[in-house]
Amino acid sequence: MINIAIDGPSGAGKSSLAKALAKKLDYIYVDTGALYRAVGLFVRSKEVEPTNMAEVEKLLPLISLELDYENGVQTVYLNGENVNEKIRTPEMSMYASAVSAHPPVRTFLLDLQKNIAKKHNVIMDGRDIGTVILPDAQVKIYLFADNESRAKRRYEELLQKGEKVTLESVLEEMNLRDHNDSTRKTAPAVQAPDAIPLNNSQLDFEGTVDAALEIIGKVLGK
Ligand code: DC
Repeated sequence: MINIAIDGPSGAGKSSLAKALAKKLDYIYVDTGALYRAVGLFVRSKEVEPTNMAEVEKLLPLISLELDYENGVQTVYLNGENVNEKIRTPEMSMYASAVSAHPPVRTFLLDLQKNIAKKHNVIMDGRDIGTVILPDAQVKIYLFADNESRAKRRYEELLQKGEKVTLESVLEEMNLRDHNDSTRKTAPAVQAPDAIPLNNSQLDFEGTVDAALEIIGKVLGK
Protein backbone atom coordinates (compact mmCIF):
# COMPACT_ATOMS: atom_id res chain seq x y z
CA MET A 1 0.00 0.00 0.00
CA ILE A 2 1.10 3.54 -0.59
CA ASN A 3 1.01 5.75 2.48
CA ILE A 4 1.31 9.51 2.38
CA ALA A 5 1.78 11.30 5.71
CA ILE A 6 0.92 14.96 6.17
CA ASP A 7 1.88 16.53 9.47
CA GLY A 8 2.07 20.11 10.62
CA PRO A 9 0.66 22.64 13.07
CA SER A 10 -3.04 23.48 13.34
CA GLY A 11 -4.55 25.67 10.67
CA ALA A 12 -1.89 24.97 8.06
CA GLY A 13 -4.58 23.48 5.83
CA LYS A 14 -3.63 19.82 6.24
CA SER A 15 -7.15 18.46 6.03
CA SER A 16 -8.19 20.51 2.97
CA LEU A 17 -4.98 19.52 1.22
CA ALA A 18 -5.24 15.86 2.18
CA LYS A 19 -8.87 15.72 1.06
CA ALA A 20 -8.03 17.20 -2.35
CA LEU A 21 -5.04 14.91 -2.82
CA ALA A 22 -7.06 11.85 -1.85
CA LYS A 23 -9.66 12.73 -4.45
CA LYS A 24 -7.07 13.28 -7.19
CA LEU A 25 -5.13 10.13 -6.38
CA ASP A 26 -8.14 8.02 -5.40
CA TYR A 27 -6.74 7.25 -1.95
CA ILE A 28 -8.56 7.23 1.37
CA TYR A 29 -8.13 10.38 3.44
CA VAL A 30 -7.69 9.58 7.11
CA ASP A 31 -8.19 12.52 9.47
CA THR A 32 -6.54 11.35 12.71
CA GLY A 33 -7.30 14.55 14.63
CA ALA A 34 -10.96 13.49 14.51
CA LEU A 35 -10.10 10.48 16.70
CA TYR A 36 -8.57 12.65 19.44
CA ARG A 37 -11.53 15.00 19.12
CA ALA A 38 -13.96 12.09 19.60
CA VAL A 39 -12.08 10.98 22.72
CA GLY A 40 -12.25 14.60 23.94
CA LEU A 41 -15.99 14.68 23.31
CA PHE A 42 -16.52 11.54 25.36
CA VAL A 43 -14.35 12.90 28.19
CA ARG A 44 -16.43 16.06 28.26
CA SER A 45 -19.69 14.09 28.27
CA LYS A 46 -18.46 12.41 31.47
CA GLU A 47 -17.46 15.78 32.92
CA VAL A 48 -13.88 14.68 33.35
CA GLU A 49 -11.03 17.21 33.22
CA PRO A 50 -9.18 16.44 29.94
CA THR A 51 -5.78 17.15 31.51
CA ASN A 52 -6.37 14.51 34.24
CA MET A 53 -4.62 11.50 32.74
CA ALA A 54 -5.70 8.96 35.37
CA GLU A 55 -9.37 9.88 35.00
CA VAL A 56 -9.19 10.01 31.20
CA GLU A 57 -7.50 6.61 31.12
CA LYS A 58 -10.35 5.08 33.16
CA LEU A 59 -12.80 6.14 30.45
CA LEU A 60 -10.94 4.53 27.54
CA PRO A 61 -12.51 1.05 27.96
CA LEU A 62 -15.90 2.72 27.59
CA ILE A 63 -15.01 4.17 24.19
CA SER A 64 -15.59 2.44 20.89
CA LEU A 65 -14.49 4.31 17.79
CA GLU A 66 -15.17 3.39 14.20
CA LEU A 67 -14.23 5.14 10.99
CA ASP A 68 -16.30 4.84 7.86
CA TYR A 69 -15.53 6.18 4.39
CA GLU A 70 -18.05 7.10 1.75
CA ASN A 71 -17.24 9.17 -1.35
CA GLY A 72 -13.99 10.18 0.28
CA VAL A 73 -15.72 11.54 3.39
CA GLN A 74 -14.70 10.17 6.77
CA THR A 75 -17.36 9.61 9.39
CA VAL A 76 -16.36 9.03 13.00
CA TYR A 77 -18.68 6.92 15.11
CA LEU A 78 -18.31 7.28 18.86
CA ASN A 79 -20.11 4.38 20.53
CA GLY A 80 -22.27 4.09 17.43
CA GLU A 81 -23.10 7.81 17.11
CA ASN A 82 -21.95 9.90 14.15
CA VAL A 83 -20.05 12.74 15.85
CA ASN A 84 -18.60 14.45 12.75
CA GLU A 85 -20.33 17.74 13.53
CA LYS A 86 -19.99 17.76 17.31
CA ILE A 87 -16.21 17.38 17.24
CA ARG A 88 -15.60 20.44 15.03
CA THR A 89 -15.75 23.20 17.63
CA PRO A 90 -12.98 25.32 19.17
CA GLU A 91 -13.79 23.72 22.53
CA MET A 92 -13.23 20.24 21.12
CA SER A 93 -9.94 21.41 19.55
CA MET A 94 -8.69 22.20 23.05
CA TYR A 95 -10.10 18.98 24.54
CA ALA A 96 -8.44 16.97 21.75
CA SER A 97 -5.11 18.67 22.32
CA ALA A 98 -5.33 18.01 26.08
CA VAL A 99 -6.26 14.33 25.85
CA SER A 100 -3.75 13.72 23.05
CA ALA A 101 -0.86 14.41 25.45
CA HIS A 102 -1.69 11.27 27.48
CA PRO A 103 0.29 8.18 26.41
CA PRO A 104 -2.65 5.79 27.17
CA VAL A 105 -4.84 7.76 24.76
CA ARG A 106 -2.20 7.60 22.03
CA THR A 107 -1.74 3.86 22.55
CA PHE A 108 -5.52 3.41 22.48
CA LEU A 109 -5.69 5.00 18.99
CA LEU A 110 -2.52 3.50 17.54
CA ASP A 111 -3.75 0.24 16.02
CA LEU A 112 -6.84 1.78 14.49
CA GLN A 113 -4.65 4.21 12.54
CA LYS A 114 -1.97 1.69 11.58
CA ASN A 115 -4.51 -0.89 10.42
CA ILE A 116 -6.24 1.44 7.98
CA ALA A 117 -2.91 2.23 6.37
CA LYS A 118 -2.12 -1.48 6.03
CA LYS A 119 -5.31 -2.14 4.11
CA HIS A 120 -5.60 0.96 1.90
CA ASN A 121 -3.62 3.54 0.01
CA VAL A 122 -3.99 6.45 2.42
CA ILE A 123 -3.27 10.08 2.83
CA MET A 124 -3.23 10.49 6.59
CA ASP A 125 -2.94 13.81 8.35
CA GLY A 126 -2.11 14.60 11.97
CA ARG A 127 0.83 15.48 14.17
CA ASP A 128 2.81 12.23 14.52
CA ILE A 129 1.99 10.40 11.30
CA GLY A 130 5.47 10.59 9.77
CA THR A 131 7.23 10.05 13.08
CA VAL A 132 5.16 7.42 14.93
CA ILE A 133 2.10 6.10 13.11
CA LEU A 134 3.56 5.57 9.62
CA PRO A 135 7.35 5.92 9.99
CA ASP A 136 7.74 3.99 6.71
CA ALA A 137 5.31 6.13 4.69
CA GLN A 138 6.61 6.51 1.13
CA VAL A 139 5.89 10.24 1.14
CA LYS A 140 6.01 12.57 4.14
CA ILE A 141 5.05 16.21 3.88
CA TYR A 142 5.36 18.72 6.70
CA LEU A 143 2.87 21.49 5.92
CA PHE A 144 3.20 24.78 7.73
CA ALA A 145 2.61 28.52 7.42
CA ASP A 146 3.27 31.58 9.54
CA ASN A 147 1.00 32.06 12.57
CA GLU A 148 -0.97 34.97 11.14
CA SER A 149 -1.85 33.19 7.88
CA ARG A 150 -2.93 30.09 9.76
CA ALA A 151 -5.04 32.00 12.27
CA LYS A 152 -6.72 34.01 9.53
CA ARG A 153 -7.71 30.90 7.59
CA ARG A 154 -9.04 29.15 10.69
CA TYR A 155 -10.92 32.31 11.68
CA GLU A 156 -12.64 32.55 8.30
CA GLU A 157 -13.51 28.85 8.38
CA LEU A 158 -15.11 29.21 11.84
CA LEU A 159 -17.00 32.38 10.84
CA GLN A 160 -18.46 30.56 7.85
CA LYS A 161 -19.72 27.87 10.19
CA GLY A 162 -21.42 30.52 12.31
CA GLU A 163 -19.03 30.28 15.29
CA LYS A 164 -18.71 33.51 17.25
CA VAL A 165 -14.97 34.05 17.44
CA THR A 166 -12.46 36.86 17.05
CA LEU A 167 -9.21 36.70 15.12
CA GLU A 168 -7.33 37.36 18.38
CA SER A 169 -9.02 34.48 20.21
CA VAL A 170 -8.33 32.12 17.30
CA LEU A 171 -4.66 33.14 17.19
CA GLU A 172 -4.32 32.75 20.95
CA GLU A 173 -5.96 29.30 20.99
CA MET A 174 -3.94 28.16 18.03
CA ASN A 175 -0.67 29.19 19.66
CA LEU A 176 -1.65 27.50 22.91
CA ARG A 177 -2.64 24.31 21.12
CA ASP A 178 0.54 24.23 19.01
CA HIS A 179 2.59 24.76 22.15
CA ASN A 180 0.80 21.87 23.91
CA ASP A 181 1.13 19.60 20.90
CA SER A 182 4.77 20.29 20.13
CA THR A 183 6.11 20.21 23.69
CA ARG A 184 4.35 17.11 25.04
CA LYS A 185 6.61 14.19 25.93
CA THR A 186 4.90 11.49 23.88
CA ALA A 187 4.79 11.79 20.10
CA PRO A 188 5.24 15.57 20.01
CA ALA A 189 4.17 17.40 16.87
CA VAL A 190 7.51 17.74 15.13
CA GLN A 191 8.73 17.44 11.58
CA ALA A 192 10.00 13.95 10.77
CA PRO A 193 13.67 14.08 9.71
CA ASP A 194 12.76 12.66 6.30
CA ALA A 195 9.67 14.82 5.74
CA ILE A 196 9.65 17.39 2.96
CA PRO A 197 8.71 20.83 4.31
CA LEU A 198 6.03 22.78 2.47
CA ASN A 199 5.47 26.37 3.58
CA ASN A 200 2.17 27.60 2.18
CA SER A 201 2.11 31.09 3.77
CA GLN A 202 2.28 32.64 0.31
CA LEU A 203 0.32 29.98 -1.56
CA ASP A 204 -3.39 29.78 -2.19
CA PHE A 205 -5.19 26.47 -1.99
CA GLU A 206 -4.56 25.47 -5.63
CA GLY A 207 -0.93 26.42 -5.28
CA THR A 208 -0.61 24.25 -2.19
CA VAL A 209 -2.23 21.27 -3.93
CA ASP A 210 0.05 21.69 -6.95
CA ALA A 211 3.16 21.94 -4.77
CA ALA A 212 2.16 18.80 -2.86
CA LEU A 213 1.42 16.90 -6.08
CA GLU A 214 4.84 17.86 -7.38
CA ILE A 215 6.48 16.52 -4.21
CA ILE A 216 4.45 13.29 -4.38
CA GLY A 217 5.20 12.84 -8.07
CA LYS A 218 8.92 13.32 -7.51
CA VAL A 219 9.12 11.00 -4.52
CA LEU A 220 7.02 8.25 -6.07
CA GLY A 221 8.82 8.70 -9.39
CA LYS A 222 5.67 9.43 -11.39
O1 DC B 1 -5.84 18.01 13.43
P1 DC B 1 -6.82 18.47 14.50
O2 DC B 1 -6.83 19.94 14.72
O3 DC B 1 -8.19 17.92 14.27
O4 DC B 1 -6.28 17.78 15.86
C1 DC B 1 -6.85 18.03 17.12
C2 DC B 1 -5.81 17.76 18.20
O5 DC B 1 -5.54 16.36 18.26
C3 DC B 1 -4.46 18.42 18.01
O6 DC B 1 -4.40 19.68 18.65
C4 DC B 1 -3.47 17.45 18.60
C5 DC B 1 -4.17 16.11 18.51
N1 DC B 1 -3.61 15.25 17.46
C6 DC B 1 -2.51 14.51 17.77
O7 DC B 1 -1.97 14.63 18.87
N2 DC B 1 -2.00 13.63 16.87
C7 DC B 1 -2.56 13.50 15.66
N3 DC B 1 -2.05 12.62 14.80
C8 DC B 1 -3.68 14.28 15.30
C9 DC B 1 -4.18 15.17 16.22
